[in-house]
Parts: sequence; structure tokens; C-alpha cells
Amino acid sequence: MTLDATLAQIDADQPAALERLLALLRIPSISTDPAFASHCDLAADWLVADLGSIGVSAQKHTTPGHPMVVGHVEGPADGSGPHVLFYGHYDVQPVDPLTLWDRDPFDPEVQQTPNGPVIRGRGAADDKGQLMTFVEACRAWKAVHGEMPCRITFFFEGEEESGSPSLVPFMKENADLLRADVALICDTGLFESRVPSIITQLRGLLGEEIHLTGPDKDLHSGMYGGAAMNPIRVLTRILGNLHDDQGRIQVPDFYDGVPELTPEVAAQWEGLDFDHATFLGDVGLASPAGEQDRNALEMIWSRPTAEINGIIGGYTGDGFKTVLPSKASAKVSFRLVGQQDPHAIRENFRAWVKAQVPADVDVSFAPHGASPASQMSTAHPAFEACRGALGVEWGFDAAFTGCGGSIPVAGYFQSILGLESMLVGWGKDDDQIHSPNEKYDLESFHKGIRSWARILDAIR
Ligand code: BES
Ligand code: ZN
Repeated sequence: MTLDATLAQIDADQPAALERLLALLRIPSISTDPAFASHCDLAADWLVADLGSIGVSAQKHTTPGHPMVVGHVEGPADGSGPHVLFYGHYDVQPVDPLTLWDRDPFDPEVQQTPNGPVIRGRGAADDKGQLMTFVEACRAWKAVHGEMPCRITFFFEGEEESGSPSLVPFMKENADLLRADVALICDTGLFESRVPSIITQLRGLLGEEIHLTGPDKDLHSGMYGGAAMNPIRVLTRILGNLHDDQGRIQVPDFYDGVPELTPEVAAQWEGLDFDHATFLGDVGLASPAGEQDRNALEMIWSRPTAEINGIIGGYTGDGFKTVLPSKASAKVSFRLVGQQDPHAIRENFRAWVKAQVPADVDVSFAPHGASPASQMSTAHPAFEACRGALGVEWGFDAAFTGCGGSIPVAGYFQSILGLESMLVGWGKDDDQIHSPNEKYDLESFHKGIRSWARILDAIR
């Protein structure tokens, strides 16, 4: 049977594939909010059943958090082809602020837009739509060939959006279940929304919460203001000190382990012809805000960052209240590159904060995940095969690129299973992942499925 027959089957089955994705999107599997735990469970059940429908023997594995789904299927009887491990995550981000959504985030639908039809709903792009592109490609392959192209292990996580607390213990305990020759991860996007992209480096991520307490209760700022230390004043000074005027991060030793780009990678990125003006212009901005001696592509792919993701404190309701608050807190995250050590940075950050907290104010911290950056080796033959396959589907040669986001599992595949990961995905820059009105282009879904069929055909 030819690849064309599989592609034709994919095209013919699009309406049914879309219905299956919509069914998965209706399950509100928000991993970070305990109120949605039973829905995470349901999403895992849904995947087990769906894998079962294409002959994959899959199981839900309970963890202290949300369940993992692992499924296995054999390839051709002659045992040919590589054994691939496919990873995706079925959990999604919270939907708030709900008022900014144009419709119920868990009542997905296809909408027509000036740029073509889109699937609107939480998780459409990150990551349910993406993981289903692989499942649908396997379904079509099976329908046409009566067997899978190669031996495949499916691995779906339900805690990716909340720091993957169960991932490392699960992988260590179940290493034999997850053994394969190469990992495929579908949780990234196209370069500039057009060019298929194979990710060769991912940033790591470290999360910290700072909690400051000043007076032991909220006070009237007329009675106490001036005399009592305001914890928001302390917090904003510390946060304001995170970056200097040149955009460099001031935590001691923060840049230890940050490499310069090799000339080869620098030339490769130069060749991508990244449109700097459009990148920021598309979100209403014009001036790159990172280290002033770096360009925007470096800022998002190869430089570390510190971002303040949230500040809590004082009176934030309508109207006005002259409160001198007892407490103030902030959520801060660091994107890490190269050999930066998340644990050392956590320690250094805490010490740096503590040194700036005056008498009368107490500080405490809460940790939120710590994963190092990862660098893929592209030596596995799957990478070159994939590159060719993607060029045919998308009409552009696939690019080897960086990625500003973090997908900690790629590093764990390397360190725990000794597996290289090939990261490809079909998301677009305007998918609004993690934001209100998340969408996935129907084109991404359809061509993504076709892309996986081509990739599987090329690497089997
Ligand atoms: N799919 C994203 C990673 C991503 C983001 C890829 C942007 C390409 C472009 C992933 O689900 C994600 O959001 N990861 C989190 C990290 C996690 C530990 C909370 C992130 O990058 O913030
Ligand atoms: Zn994701």
C-alpha cells in the first residue's frame, strides 16, 4: 500500500476525526485545579478507550496526581522499523478570565475566521488537538494497512500544565514500559506559523512564589501609614531590582552555565529570516524588552529570563480603600538555558530576596517546578527523514529551531530513558494557548495528521 492511500484515508475521515477531537475537548481536564480532578480522570479514560478503538492496548496508571496513559501496539510482523514513543498531554490550562472568552471554553466548535476555519476551545492547540493528530494518523494507517507502521508506545500525561509532579517518579518506576528507540513529542508549533519546525533546544523553567508579611493584620493607612512597613513596598522594590537597565537579571551567579550560540547555530538562525518587526508588532509592541545587546529571537530561544507572572496584595476591587496590607506576594518564573542549574538558581534567588527584606517583614517561599533546559541531538536518522517528509506536506523545508517554551519531559526522556526526542507540532503563533479563545486551525489539525503519516512512512 502506498502513502497516498493513507493520506486519502485521512482526508476522507476528517469529519469523524474532528468529532473525536471535539469530544475530548469537551472534557474540562484542568490539571492545576483540584476541583477538576475527576475530569482529568475522564480524559484519561477517554484516551484509553480511543486507543483501544485502533487496536492499541492502553492502560490508565494512577499516580499521586493525575493518571498517566500508556499504550502499546506492535508494528509489522517482521519486526521492522524503529520503536517510537509518542508523548502528548491531555491536561489543559485554567480558563480564567472566563469573561474574555467569546464562548464556553469547553463547548468547542469550528468557527470561520478571515484566516480560515479554526477549532475554538481550551486545549484545542495545547495539547489535545496536537496529540490527536498522531492518534488519527495511526488510525488511518491501521485502516489502510491492517497494522501499524512500526512498534509504537503512546504516553499521555495529565499534569504537564501544572509542573508534572508525578512524571519523574512514574518514568523511573516504569522505565521498562516506556523503552523505545526514539521519542516523538507533539506540543510545539510551526516557525512563524508557516514553516514546519523541528525543535532542537528547549528552555527549562523554575517557578517561585514569594510571600511577604508585614503587620499582623490589615491596617488603616492613615493611622499607621509611614510608621508601619508596607509589604507591597518591599515586594515591588525587590521585583523592580530583578532586571537592570540593560535587561540583565540581577540574581547572583544567574548567568552561570549560559552558553553563547555556536557559530553554526547562529548562522542557522540567521538563515531563518525571522521577521522581528512582525513578531512584536503582532501583539501591539515594537521594542524588544530583554538584554539590550540581543535580538528578539535570541531573547526567546537562547537567553534566560525572569518574569513576574502575578502580584497579589492590598485592595484590588472596585473603588478605593486606604488599606496598609498585612501581606503581599508574587509569582516569579525563570526560563533557563544551557547548563543553568535550577536548584542553584532557586537557592541564590531566595538568598537574594531575603537580603532585601527589612526588619519587621517576614518572607517565605513556595517552589513550583524546576526543570533544566534541554538540547536535542539530531543524529538519529529519524530527524533527517522527518525533515524531508515535512517539506513535502507544508511546501517549505523544515527548519531546525529553538523554542522559548518548556517541555520538561524531553529532558527526562534523555536523562531517565536515554532517549532522544524529536519535537514537531502544528501550532501557530496566534493560537492563544493558555489564553482566552484558544484555537487550533483546522489546517493544523488536518495537515498535522497528514504530516505524521508522512513521518511514520519515512522513519519505518
Ligand atoms: N505546549 C507548551 C510549550 C510551548 C509553549 C511550546 C509555546 C511552544 C510554544 C507547554 O504545554 C507549556 O505551556 N509548558 C509550560 C511549562 C510547564 C512546566 C508549566 C510553559 O512553557 O510555560
Ligand atoms: Zn503543551
